[in-house]
Amino acid sequence: MYRAGDAEIEAVARVIRDGALFRYGVGHECETFERRYADYLGVRHFALAASGSNALAAAMTAVGLGPGDEVIIPAHTYMATATSVLTVGAIPVVVDIDETITLDPAALEAAIGPRTRAVAPVHMWGAACDMDAIMAIAERRGLIVIEDACQGVGGGYKGRKFGSIGHIAAFSFNYYKNMTSGEGGGVAVNDDAWAERARCAIDPCHFYWQGRSDSAQPFSGNGARASELMGAMLNVQLDRIDGMIRTMRAERRAILAATASLGNLGLRPTPANSPDDDCATHVMYSLPSAQSATRFAELFPCVIVGKTGRHNYTEWDQVLMGAGAGHPAMNPFNMPANAECRRSYSKDMCAASLEILNRTILVPTHPDHTEAEISDIVHNLGAAARVALGSAPAAEADFRKTAPLDAQKFDLKLDA
Ligand SMILES: Cc1ncc(COP(=O)(O)O)c(C=O)c1O
Repeated sequence: MYRAGDAEIEAVARVIRDGALFRYGVGHECETFERRYADYLGVRHFALAASGSNALAAAMTAVGLGPGDEVIIPAHTYMATATSVLTVGAIPVVVDIDETITLDPAALEAAIGPRTRAVAPVHMWGAACDMDAIMAIAERRGLIVIEDACQGVGGGYKGRKFGSIGHIAAFSFNYYKNMTSGEGGGVAVNDDAWAERARCAIDPCHFYWQGRSDSAQPFSGNGARASELMGAMLNVQLDRIDGMIRTMRAERRAILAATASLGNLGLRPTPANSPDDDCATHVMYSLPSAQSATRFAELFPCVIVGKTGRHNYTEWDQVLMGAGAGHPAMNPFNMPANAECRRSYSKDMCAASLEILNRTILVPTHPDHTEAEISDIVHNLGAAARVALGSAPAAEADFRKTAPLDAQKFDLKLDA
């Protein structure tokens, strides 16, 4: 969460005062947000859900993925990208990321097999995937692109908003996201029939609340309906998002400009696919080695991307252990329809990704950082680079006090 205050409190209080706590026929916050956010993204439909995980599974259900299908996902993403594939009965195939820490288009192309039907590129930490290359491969090889934009709220790629480029997309509005209602998520899509299916996957009683339609065929699913409290908060958050992203982009530009000379020591900006459009929620640097990144992080509070627990495939227990469902008969790894899918995983299957992730660091930006705080960050980056990457003695580095990292958000406790 970046900013939330009186406007959100008032919006939520209004819903409670009005007793308008149900989205269909009673309240109008969810519906208003869905229309506004679809316009914001430049898509025809947006369907709110209870979480980003629900939204991802609803998107996969909407496009008809299921047993017998493989979905290619990157080695670095929150594990819900993988588990949502399993939720619909399909099999995730994990491939390498590149220096941008997002899905490597070459790895995607190389991994496509006879069972591959879809790919889920993920805009990790707000950084853009190489969507031109991914869409071109998908077009050529007949793949459906499910954009995981859960970490990309408010960002974009070459002038288009994240979530409007793939064939369908999922967003999260959980506590750690750029816009939040505590929990929440949703599906963005242009295709009318897929939108209906996504709404049915989110709420199988959707047809009951909205009236039956001859054109849509309902199916059974689990409920993940959004609440009006969520809609009310998101309507306020949507008014804030562009200003916050602009401020974070300015902070990142300032930090990168002020640290450009440290490239000589080996502190180099991580390559970015769309630096003027992405979320800029972090400044990212690529260091020469995992060892230097570890040394750097000991001196300056930053996040080594490879040490963010649940975001790396090596920590996805359910996938690695083949535990794809609560009941063995519902486990996609046991399903005869998946017999020809690639179902074996190992901790070193994407070693090239681990090598990159362990020498890439994140320095979080924040819309409320003051100029003095930004100046302290720049100062400390320089001091840490001179000690960790140069020959300056640690004793001479005069680090300034900065805010501690959010250990929960970055899953730093695993390595504490
Ligand atoms: C890349 C990515 N995908 C999916 C999700 C799932 O979203 P939620 O936590 O709202 O279920 C997240 C949440 O952290 C995420 O970061």
